[in-house]
Amino acid sequence: MRKIKIFDTTLRDGEQSPGASMNVEEKIQLARQLASLKVDIIEAGFAISSPGDFEAIKRIGDEVEGPVVCSLARAREEDIKRAWEALKDAPRRRIHTFHSTSDIHLKYQFRVDREEALRRSVAMVELARSFVEDVEFSPMDATRTEMGYLLDVVEAVVAAGAKTVNIPDTVGYTTPEEFGALIAEIKKRIGNKAVISVHCHNDLGLAVANSLSAVANGAGQVECTINGIGERAGNCSMEEVVMALKTRKDFFNASTNINTREIVRTSRLVSKITGIPVQPNKAIVGANAFAHESGIHQDGLLKEKTTYEIMRPEDVGLQSTKLVMGKHSGRHAFKTRLKELGFSLSQEEIDGLFERFKRLADQKKDIYDEDLEALVLDATARPPELYRLVDLSITSGLTQKPTATVKMKIGEEIFDRMEHGDGPVDATYRAIVAISNTKSTLRSFDVKSITGGTDALGEVSVSLEEEGRGVRGNGADTDIIVAAAKAYIDALNKLAARKKP
Ligand code: KIV
Ligand code: ZN
Repeated sequence: MRKIKIFDTTLRDGEQSPGASMNVEEKIQLARQLASLKVDIIEAGFAISSPGDFEAIKRIGDEVEGPVVCSLARAREEDIKRAWEALKDAPRRRIHTFHSTSDIHLKYQFRVDREEALRRSVAMVELARSFVEDVEFSPMDATRTEMGYLLDVVEAVVAAGAKTVNIPDTVGYTTPEEFGALIAEIKKRIGNKAVISVHCHNDLGLAVANSLSAVANGAGQVECTINGIGERAGNCSMEEVVMALKTRKDFFNASTNINTREIVRTSRLVSKITGIPVQPNKAIVGANAFAHESGIHQDGLLKEKTTYEIMRPEDVGLQSTKLVMGKHSGRHAFKTRLKELGFSLSQEEIDGLFERFKRLADQKKDIYDEDLEALVLDATARPPELYRLVDLSITSGLTQKPTATVKMKIGEEIFDRMEHGDGPVDATYRAIVAISNTKSTLRSFDVKSITGGTDALGEVSVSLEEEGRGVRGNGADTDIIVAAAKAYIDALNKLAARKKP
């Protein structure tokens, strides 16, 4: 059975989704989870694009064990040198360089001819190879590139030392049959001299189908993102391509190294960090992906699971919601359960979380695994807190004007303020804005409940914009207004962290 490498680009192409930008701490948290998922390669960013990307690549390379860590670089000397700077201390590293090859891009965007594009591609692969062994090259817009020229470029960069050639369907234009045939041609030309990778965008909803067709025709690496996030309509969805290969191994005769039981947790983390919700009917990770509504289906399932279930929910990390703890659970049981859920936390983090768990247990009788996950995700990967919520009280009702009194710490000083609003959230946000004296605009506000019941933990995600740049904030609490306040303050802290020199 062939082994297909999974190259995860959630932190690079995924981050190109509108509004999905992540800070360094969030990227590191996600990279650790990608390592638990056992992806083969993490594309951690584009080193030259910003100091934040540079730092994230560097720290992921230094701190996250397991996967190869990769930086993107245009086929330019300064990009490749910057990628090397970011990666030089990483034990397992790759430089991924790219140049467009389609006539449309060369003529209108780069204003160079085919010979010059080929020359630059070869020279930059050689330069990257002078720094690292593991070099990947992508002929951008490959699927709209004239086939003969594309084959020449591929052959030349492999001869120059590229160990992987990635064939991007940059604009999501190709179709499964056509793309499979292209990959077969490339395989004929280069044989086993380099790994053929594919990178499909989802503009026509075909990214997963195109990637699978490529695998069937000789591709050995698939580039993808968690939840399929990415530029425009997104990228090939990791969970879909991996589960298709696993479920239909009889057809593809190929497997991956992915620990599929980590899929749901990774999907939730990406959704939480980016604030991009997963649609309920999304394959593999949507809330309804394993829900059977029809009476006929339920009848079949009760008789024999395989009548209507082609994958087991537990194989993607979905447990039937389990009651785990309550207010009498002790610190030891709490620590053990967090470990079973796959969180590796320091004693100090566990102690802090235990206090929060006890407070939650006072408000909520039954605590489920999902609640614990939300608690951990809510408490970790926070930027340094300039603003902190100390207290919040609300009065509101059918006949009363909603009023919020917010007490907040800024640095070491405590401030409070009472404000009225159109609703309790509006009043709370007015008070926070007045205390913090900030000028951002609220762009979106989403609420969802973790598990069910009136005492469920509520999770709020907001997006704020300041000076044309967006930021997301999250908060979780059994009190939805407190969750909303935490989310807003989280976003303000991220904005403040950005402004620091
Ligand atoms: O879509 C694309 O072509 C890319 C390249 C940089 C690989 O993201
Ligand atoms: Zn892309």
